[in-house]
Amino acid sequence: MTRTYIADAAKTPGAKVLVQGFVDNLRDSKYMAFIVLKDITGRIQITVEKEKLPGLCDTISQLTPDSVISVTGTVIENEYVKMGGVEIIPEDIQIESIADALPIARKAIPATRKKKAVERSSIDQRIDYRWIDLRTDENQLMIQVQTVMVNSMRQYLLDHHFVEIHTPKLIGAASESGADVFEVKYFDRSAYLAQSPQFYKQMAMASGLERIFEVGPVFRAEKSYTNRHTTEFTGFDLEFSYITSYQDVMDLEAELLTHMLKEVKEKYGEQIQEAFGKEVIVPTLPFPTVDLHTLYDELEKNYGYVVDESEKNDMTTEAEQLSYKWVQEKYGHEFLFVTGFGPEKRAFYHMRDENGIPMGYDLVWRGVEITTGAQREHRYEILKKQAAEKGLGDDIKFYLEFFKYGCPPHGGFGLGVDRMTMLLLDLGIKDAMFLFRGPNRLTP
Ligand code: 4AD
Ligand code: MG
Repeated sequence: MTRTYIADAAKTPGAKVLVQGFVDNLRDSKYMAFIVLKDITGRIQITVEKEKLPGLCDTISQLTPDSVISVTGTVIENEYVKMGGVEIIPEDIQIESIADALPIARKAIPATRKKKAVERSSIDQRIDYRWIDLRTDENQLMIQVQTVMVNSMRQYLLDHHFVEIHTPKLIGAASESGADVFEVKYFDRSAYLAQSPQFYKQMAMASGLERIFEVGPVFRAEKSYTNRHTTEFTGFDLEFSYITSYQDVMDLEAELLTHMLKEVKEKYGEQIQEAFGKEVIVPTLPFPTVDLHTLYDELEKNYGYVVDESEKNDMTTEAEQLSYKWVQEKYGHEFLFVTGFGPEKRAFYHMRDENGIPMGYDLVWRGVEITTGAQREHRYEILKKQAAEKGLGDDIKFYLEFFKYGCPPHGGFGLGVDRMTMLLLDLGIKDAMFLFRGPNRLTP
């Protein structure tokens, strides 16, 4: 017999089905046993009248929460069953795998007359057993939402003449800045884990591919212990040619994100509201844009936020957070493009305007940076000079070569998928990814 998803089985009263999943709940009393079975699509009650099915009693007595079973039986309508008014009367129950007592509490359990309340395990304890933690409805929804996020953006780009590329993550020289890079043993020499596909995205521009994107791992050797930093995350990166300004890059990103949030809201808006208490808001176009110095003036004027002049060429974490309040009050928007960063704070490959200001931006969503983007410097001599100013030499010689034999003007951005997920669902980053990696976390 082929397996039926629980959600489908529930729609076919009278049918004989095979359903498989985890034992979500179990009540075994003298005459009756009730098993709640969960698969990725939902839950269904398996009802056993023990007198009628003596052969199943031994199997049922062995079951524990989270054991995996296969159940063959008939779907019956029963208005007294809370779970959708249907149940399965089994003919056979096969144990696929017995679960030991669970080592974590995935959710807080309130006290009853007989039992004390159980506190939810901390996120770090839960990550020790992440596969068990991921069985909750909320976590499975998180992964499903992330799938729609990435897939809708991928589809949008495919519909707009982009191609998908896969760039190496093992590289011969530290990219971008040299800081925050993981060194790995590579036969009898050292290699590094890519901090960004930046150089190869630009190589693709020099290759004449015109419009490319990549979804892949990004490694950062940062000893940050915040709720938004991880040492390995999924980057959604794109780059495209023949732009006239970084405004083109911002416009594309705003359209891409609007499309994505529309799809997420359509598919999962209600479930997100229910599970995470967060409304998915489809933004309006265009997204508001502000110059960094204007933003600091506004934050000072409106909220008395003052930073030292020396910090004003970059965005402080507090300014990022406060900017959310400001953009909501001033524009009724959740997104804010910030431009006008200082050249000393930006990568050497950002193109600069006649005043030496990088022609790039950060996109802040709900008070957290989700993207850095820019028009890139594609003119070999200028690029070489900007690299030298940052003290980058031989290491990036291979990269500079990309610009020597013809290269279109271009720009692009890098978007953190885990950060997006985290902000969308109002979680910390450890909860918003399949499996977190941090300075103290390399297992499971
Ligand atoms: O701002 P970043 O460092 O920019 C780049 O990698 C450039 N090469 C992009 C470009 O095309 N100019 O990283 C891009 C995004 C950030 O905005 C953030 O969303 C995410 O990647 N990110 C992180 N996410 C989780 N943990 C970290 N440690 C992250 N560092 C960056
Ligand atoms: Mg950045």
